[in-house]
Amino acid sequence: MCGIVGYIGVKPVKQILIDGLRELEYRGYDSAGIAVLQNNTFSLFKAVGKLVNLEEKAKNFETEGFSIGIGHTRWATHGKPTELNAHPHLGENSYVVHNGIIENYQELKASLMAQGVQFLSQTDTEVIVHLFEHHLKTASDAFDAFKKTLVQLEGAYAILLINSNESGTIFFAKHGSPMIIGRNEAGEILFGSSDAALIGKCHEVIYLEDGHYGYGSAKGISLFDQNHQPVALRFSPLAENKLSAQKEGYRFFMEKEIYEQSRVLADTLMGRLRDESVYFEEIDPELFQGINEIKLCACGTSYHAAMVASYLFERHAKIKTSVEIASEFRYREPFLTQDTLFVVISQSGETADTLESLKMAKKFGLKTMVICNVDNSSMVRLADASILTRAGIEKGVASTKAFATQVCVLWMLSLSLAGERHTLEASEIQNQIHLLRTLPSTVTVDSALHEQLRRLSKRYLHGHGFFFIGRDVFFPLALEGALKLKEISYLHAEGYPSGEMKHGPIALADPKLFTIALLPQHKLYDKTKSNIEELSARDSTICSISPLDFDKADDHIRTKPSEHYMCEFFEMMVVLQLLSMEIAIRLGNDVDMPRNLAKSVTVE
Ligand code: M6R
Repeated sequence: MCGIVGYIGVKPVKQILIDGLRELEYRGYDSAGIAVLQNNTFSLFKAVGKLVNLEEKAKNFETEGFSIGIGHTRWATHGKPTELNAHPHLGENSYVVHNGIIENYQELKASLMAQGVQFLSQTDTEVIVHLFEHHLKTASDAFDAFKKTLVQLEGAYAILLINSNESGTIFFAKHGSPMIIGRNEAGEILFGSSDAALIGKCHEVIYLEDGHYGYGSAKGISLFDQNHQPVALRFSPLAENKLSAQKEGYRFFMEKEIYEQSRVLADTLMGRLRDESVYFEEIDPELFQGINEIKLCACGTSYHAAMVASYLFERHAKIKTSVEIASEFRYREPFLTQDTLFVVISQSGETADTLESLKMAKKFGLKTMVICNVDNSSMVRLADASILTRAGIEKGVASTKAFATQVCVLWMLSLSLAGERHTLEASEIQNQIHLLRTLPSTVTVDSALHEQLRRLSKRYLHGHGFFFIGRDVFFPLALEGALKLKEISYLHAEGYPSGEMKHGPIALADPKLFTIALLPQHKLYDKTKSNIEELSARDSTICSISPLDFDKADDHIRTKPSEHYMCEFFEMMVVLQLLSMEIAIRLGNDVDMPRNLAKSVTVE
């Protein structure tokens, strides 16, 4: 969601904070702000909207010599995206930035207001800085006040706080939201809510655990655990290469990421395919021993990947598989059995609901695994086993290449399990391994197809809604297509299993209802065709996607002939991604940073 950076050192602090925020901006971009403390004097800049607005406001501000600073880019949870609600938040002589949600902020706020404290913003965050200053009046020192503050906070947080009486110190805390501290040979200390903000500036980092808190200064870092015991500093090396994605001539990161799918899928497959088996070096086969059920849990696009896996796992590996939306799983008092492998899927590895579900499964004693794109993320560190999807940094809020690599890993995993469990003929496993090897070329964007979709997009800008329909694994693909479109075009779209239309949704059919129909040759072709014909008979405007001609459609997107429905799946995935993007571009939307959304949803 939001992004946090902090800096202690002698370099020009503004640029370091803004560079760090730029790396995190795709996670939240309602507003941004920085507070710098030098020689006991604060300088504060805040701006609504994208980071460029903040840069403009702070363009004449420079520092020389030692200073400290904190910065934040916001995705609003409490209060509108205004300057007053932007972080950092001010007390009398302290500033705070915060990611997460303080669940008991209303009662804390009421109690502080009763004591005469005035609040400026509508945020939950502001309560932290006032509570700190309240404790400062009686505490032995600022750190003692900070500790007393933390004890009273409920919810999730990553916090940086600075106080003018301690002008060389940043206080920090992590509980439920990520926070990383880095250092370099020049003695600088940096903080970030993701290591993306620190790459290129630090050579080693500490990934804080929940309950960790402490302070950093030019003298170093003091770290404590939730029992207030000192924690030894264990640094891990940080990649030196600045992996931050650049658009490289594409109009949007989303477009670049769609085009990158061929390369990243090759990376996902690399070293994992043998002639007759699929091999994940990182997975100990012991993990699957005694397992009779797989429960997949995720949110959003990752949930759609999980749904695809539920078809493949049962079909290939003959293992009972269920799928859970993480935000539902957490609160529905699930009945879990010890012979279940609990698998979470997440691009970021930080999604709050998925992370909490993983914690629940671990608490229940289940074996756990994560399929994730971000090494060292909270989920990767927590799960018993992890498979990295190797999609590289995904900046577009609408997930594309992360989804492609998730489905690829899950397809491979289904074959690996089928091999272990002897549930597929060896020749069939070999055949599918051969198909997996063709994926990089399957998803290569054909420029003629892209041009066709660009032209076609102008016919799909109005109407009263979209249905995306498909059967089998094309049903979750339909859900994913609908999610892509609504995220970036703000048009109403729903995904449905084709066979479900006549149970209600078909009542909406008329020329202004656009149906995007997934009609693969190799999976339930005739059944799906009949479902589309039923919609066509009711005059819905139909755009079919199929390698075979379909004369009942208003528009037809012809995919390449292929041998297997999973290859058709990947090709249609690219079509849906490009079509959504072209519609959104025609509507003039910011495809990479769509309204109301953030890349990583670290609040529940
Ligand atoms: O990082 P995660 O995969 O856990 O994120 C889950 C969802 O928030 C994410 O897939 C979201 O739905 C995307 N914006 C979809 O494009």
